Amino acid sequence: MASATALQTRPAVAENNFTIRPFSGPLGAEITGLDINLTSDRDIAELRAALVKHSVIVLRDQRITPQEHVAFSRRFGPLQVHVLNRFHLKNHPEIMIVSNVVENGQPIGLVDAGADWHSDLSYMLRPSLGSLLHAQELPPEQGDTQFANMFNAYDSLPADVKKTIEGRRAVHSYVYRYRRLQALTPWRVDLTQKQIDEVPDVEHPVVRTHPESGRKALFVSEGFTSHIIGLPKDESDALLKLLHEHAVRAGNVYTHKWRAHDIVFWDNRSTVHYAPITPQHLRRTLYRTTVEGDVPF
Ligand code: SIN
Repeated sequence: MASATALQTRPAVAENNFTIRPFSGPLGAEITGLDINLTSDRDIAELRAALVKHSVIVLRDQRITPQEHVAFSRRFGPLQVHVLNRFHLKNHPEIMIVSNVVENGQPIGLVDAGADWHSDLSYMLRPSLGSLLHAQELPPEQGDTQFANMFNAYDSLPADVKKTIEGRRAVHSYVYRYRRLQALTPWRVDLTQKQIDEVPDVEHPVVRTHPESGRKALFVSEGFTSHIIGLPKDESDALLKLLHEHAVRAGNVYTHKWRAHDIVFWDNRSTVHYAPITPQHLRRTLYRTTVEGDVPF
C-alpha cells in the first residue's frame, strides 16, 4: 500500500489551512486540516488542481451531514442522480448508498457497487468527472477500495498496442454490467423499462484526453465496456482483457484503507476503481455523490 510521504504544504489562507501530502505510490494524496464548510473559491480551485494532479484525494476527518456532502460536491459541478433510485438516501437523491447492510430482509444500499473495475457512470453521454465517497460505517477489515492510474496505463502501453487502439471507440453499457452482476447478487431485480430507457448504451473513445490536464488516459473498463467498435467479438474481448490486465497490474494500483470520516474523491477521467463485496457479518456503509463531467474526446 502506498504511504503518505513527501510533505507538500500549501500557503496559508485565513479561512482554511489545509495540507496536501502526495502518496508515494502511483496516484493519490491525503488532505488534512480541511473544513469543507469553509472552502473559498480559491480552496475549491486548489482541491480541483490536486484532484487532476493526483487522481485521488483523501479528505480526512470529515464529520459532515449528507446536506454538507451534497453542497460541497456541487462546488465541482452539477450532480448526477443514479438510475437505481431504490438506493438514494431519503431526501437526498444525489446521494447513493453503498452498503452491504440488510435491514428487515432488504439491502439498504448497493452492495456490489464496486464489484468489478470501472469508472463511475462511464455509460452516460457525459460520464462522471469524479465521485465523492464518504465513510459512514466501516468494517475492521475487507473494506478497502482500489484505484488504478489510467494515465500511466496509457503511457506505458507498448507502441503496437497504442497503434491498435488509436482512434478506436468502445461501447459502455449500464445494462451489460447490471445483467452480469445479476448472476452474482440475488437482490438485483430486473430493471424496469423506464430505467433501461434512462441509460442507453453510449460510445466513447478508448483513449480520452483529460479536459483539464490534456494528458491521455485509457478509458475502458472491465465493468461497463461491452466491446470495441469495428472489431470481431473475439478480438475485442482479447484486446479489452489485455488493456484491463495492463491497467490494474501491481505497481499501478493504490489501495485505500478507509479511516472513520474519510471522504475519498476520485477522478473518473483518469482512474478505474474496484471494491470487493464485504462479507455480510462486517458492516460497511458509505454515501456517494457523482459530479457530472464532459463528453469524452
Ligand atoms: C463504487 O464503485 O462507487 C463503490 C466503491 C466502494 O464501495 O468502495
